[in-house]
Amino acid sequence: MQNVLEILIWYKKKSRPLPWRQTTDPYQIWLSEVILQQTQVIQGLNYFHAFMEKYPSISDLASANEQDILKLWQGLGYYSRARNLLKTAKLIHNSYKNSFPDTYKELMKLPGIGDYTASAILSFAFNKPYPTLDGNVFRVISRLYNLDLPIDVPRNRSVYKEILENLIQGNDPRLFNNAMMELGATVCKPKQVQCISCPVQMHCMALKYNTVYTLPIKLGKTKKRNRYFNYLYITYKDKYYIHKREGKDIWENLYQLPLLETDAVLNKPDLISEINSSILSKSSFKLGKQKDYTHVLSHQTIEARFTHLICEEKPEFYSTEFVTVSSEKANNYPVPVLVEKFLLSL
Ligand code: ADE
Repeated sequence: MQNVLEILIWYKKKSRPLPWRQTTDPYQIWLSEVILQQTQVIQGLNYFHAFMEKYPSISDLASANEQDILKLWQGLGYYSRARNLLKTAKLIHNSYKNSFPDTYKELMKLPGIGDYTASAILSFAFNKPYPTLDGNVFRVISRLYNLDLPIDVPRNRSVYKEILENLIQGNDPRLFNNAMMELGATVCKPKQVQCISCPVQMHCMALKYNTVYTLPIKLGKTKKRNRYFNYLYITYKDKYYIHKREGKDIWENLYQLPLLETDAVLNKPDLISEINSSILSKSSFKLGKQKDYTHVLSHQTIEARFTHLICEEKPEFYSTEFVTVSSEKANNYPVPVLVEKFLLSL
């Protein structure tokens, strides 16, 4: 296909020299792809370097503990990626003698590895012809062929995939996937589209029919959920209290201040009554300053209010899960960015 060839030639001249493109080590490729899911390259680069420095090989990562990995991951969000990273590293260390499997079937069995990541490992590390269909590539194909099939409808994925499977045939898989992704990331962008520098502008059906800005189509914009978090900064002497966040929700296994989640913002009397009935038993405290933050995630907006509770005597909690920390020691615990923002503001 003529148009593919032009994209490949363009890539060889114009691509960014990113570190995971300079290697065929499946460990580095897997790590970079997990970091880059939902993360911009600029931000991902720092995390990639930090991980490579601390865990240069899969066996180094496999022997890490979850808390250290979550700490290094702090700020990237979607923390299940970090937990799966450790699970997969352990599996590869224990069951595959530290070597990544090189088949789609085996890769898909590993935690956190789906079609996209398996294809990225197979093509970038082993140069096998598996197309990497991410958001960038969806956009390129949708525009190049003027395809209006919504990209967020799961069964349409196979239509896009089939086009790519035909295009990748006879081309160097590593080069092909990198080139398609790079075109989507730097030229065929969502908004500031650079058709004028596009190597395939003469073949682009969306450019011809003036649909560049309406493609790709996405059907459902999921509505964001609002949540109300009342965090308690409970101090006694020069210490305060944190605990590990359990359960299947955002920030699983990260640490946080004692929290009351409610359906709306609480006024002070209601807050005091909630504290007495579910956090502190028989403890006297004074209410100190309050600080409000709005924290926006992809699927939810969190309205957070941090309230300082000053205790003159050692507070007693209903639950035993709380640990006391001083501010220096708190730096070792992985905490959500929202909580860190508050702690840094003190
Ligand atoms: N985004 C996701 N994977 C990427 C890669 N390998 N190169 C550049 N951007 C990416």
